[in-house]
Amino acid sequence: MSEPYPVPHFELQNGDRMPALGLGTWKSAPGEVGAAVRTALEIGYRHLDCAAIYGNEEEIGEALEAAFADGVVAREDLWVTSKLWCNRHREEDVVPALRATLADLRLDSLDLYLVHWPVAVREDLTAPESGADMLSLEERPLLGTWRGMEACVQQGLARHIGVSNYSAKKLRDHQVAERPPEVNQVEMHPYLQQPGLKQTADELGVVLTGYSPLGSADRPDTMRKDDDPVLLEDPGVAEIASEAGCTPAQVMLAWALKRGTSVIPKSTNEGRMRENLEAASVELSAAAMERLTALDRHRRYVDGVFWTRDGSPYTLDDIWDEDA
Ligand code: A2P
Repeated sequence: MSEPYPVPHFELQNGDRMPALGLGTWKSAPGEVGAAVRTALEIGYRHLDCAAIYGNEEEIGEALEAAFADGVVAREDLWVTSKLWCNRHREEDVVPALRATLADLRLDSLDLYLVHWPVAVREDLTAPESGADMLSLEERPLLGTWRGMEACVQQGLARHIGVSNYSAKKLRDHQVAERPPEVNQVEMHPYLQQPGLKQTADELGVVLTGYSPLGSADRPDTMRKDDDPVLLEDPGVAEIASEAGCTPAQVMLAWALKRGTSVIPKSTNEGRMRENLEAASVELSAAAMERLTALDRHRRYVDGVFWTRDGSPYTLDDIWDEDA
């Protein structure tokens, strides 16, 4: 059995411990992701972040089954998250969608299941071809989807439930639920620090997990703009890295952990996976944290504009509720 690398944990309401640093699998290509997951488990990762829409859960499932059989890790020592896609937002579609993910991942239950986005897509499509393929929140209310998520816990298919890409307002709206979200996974890094969302999450006892913590340089072309700054090349981050004797990626991950957020850097490269995991041992000074705070520019790489094409019932304001 491989030893877990020491990383901080979040204690959830039932006492379960969620490792604060995990492996992201968005953009991990089929044909590569299985080997990456195996390596990650061998070097001590104990948290895997997945989603149905990433199109790679079957291969991850094969790798998990083999890793359990080979004694690399025990199921109860591994945290696995997945996400409900936007075309399964009807209450009655949620449990079947989770069952399909569990079949792909070859698991009996998830540690955490998240609603992937606060937007709905027609049930017969995976990706909207135009804005007209989207369904409004009046047609597919988020609280209806949420009742389906609660059913996943009641049926023992998910130990915890949460959301992703939700604003502070939407988190507050969900407080009426019997079992409000325990986690909100959002884009978060030094260029997009979202202090207001962090404060609301802290007040509500919601763990924030930061996706694209390194700026997702490998994001698809449709998510690129000409003037996008490259987070991994930020000179301020490089300076702190050289002072702290670590790499820029480690600075950003250590910043996220010290700030009290969870983080899921993606890599399929063994050296970089190790580097990212070892960021849990990097100690940043209060002065370095302050300099990193000063880098905030509210810059989204995953800005959600693909949900707002002509004919869509959604605007970016509806999605992010920035003024709420
Ligand atoms: P690779 O998979 O080849 O390692 P994010 O987690 O923000 O989505 O970023 C993922 C991108 O960052 C991928 O292109 C990944 O490439 C790259 N990456 C992951 N870890 C590191 C690292 N430690 N240093 C530099 N680039 C990294």
